[in-house]
Amino acid sequence: MSGTVYLVGAGPGAADLLTVRAARLLGEAEVVFHDALIAEEVLRLASKAEKIAVGKRCGRHATAQRFINKRLADAARAHCVVVRLKGGDPMLFARAHEEITYLQARGIPVVVVPGVTAALAASADLRISLTRRGAARTVAFVTPRVAAGERESGWIASALAADTAAVYMGAGEAPAIAAALMAAGKPANTPVALVADASLPGVRVQYATLQELPGLSTSGAPTLILLGEVYREALPEAAAIVGRRTG
Ligand SMILES: C[S@@+](CC[C@H](N)C(=O)[O-])C[C@H]1O[C@@H](n2cnc3c(N)ncnc32)[C@H](O)[C@@H]1O
Repeated sequence: MSGTVYLVGAGPGAADLLTVRAARLLGEAEVVFHDALIAEEVLRLASKAEKIAVGKRCGRHATAQRFINKRLADAARAHCVVVRLKGGDPMLFARAHEEITYLQARGIPVVVVPGVTAALAASADLRISLTRRGAARTVAFVTPRVAAGERESGWIASALAADTAAVYMGAGEAPAIAAALMAAGKPANTPVALVADASLPGVRVQYATLQELPGLSTSGAPTLILLGEVYREALPEAAAIVGRRTG
């Protein structure tokens, strides 16, 4: 007999973007294993749970992941409701697969509760649809980040093929990302929106063209790079004019 592990999406940051189901499960949880950067307000909902920070950022640390898998299994053998709380949505760039397969292989039931992913929260902040009619009909969620031993990411081809691309875990490598996309044929005047801390009161938005992306300021805050024609009208005037002339 074992308890159930709930992989719960905590959303992008704002506590009130948590789903009702997530809030209920946090209230029932006996143990909560949570990512770094989960809001205190969200953790407070787990009022009777032991809270354990597993502190991974950006999907790194393969060894730490094995350790998390084991701790989740051990907790499920001792408790009925174990919550694994992940930023955004658990099924997007969040190592859900590793945890699900590890737990299921040991006969431990797993339930996944979706959360609002960063690209959707950023789009809400911008008030610009990822699929604005007439400008975009395809969206790609991509990341250049690969863990050690993983096969190379096909993110460039996907970002090129989609009308709008959301680049996760890329802001720290913005110059390399811009260079790689332009070398692969993405026009230098492609509009870009850089969104830091989406959904939070301190959200920061910068618009530029792809060739200007390396010059934008980044911080250590979670940041998303969005690119595509849907952002053309939001560009600062000079960049938008260049875009219209050459695009
Ligand atoms: C390991 S991934 C996790 C993604 C998460 N599972 C999701 O669905 O949003 C972390 C990356 O998500 C993006 N991100 C997460 N929260 C964000 C936020 N509030 N604002 C902007 N980007 C965010 C950043 O690109 C960050 O490097």
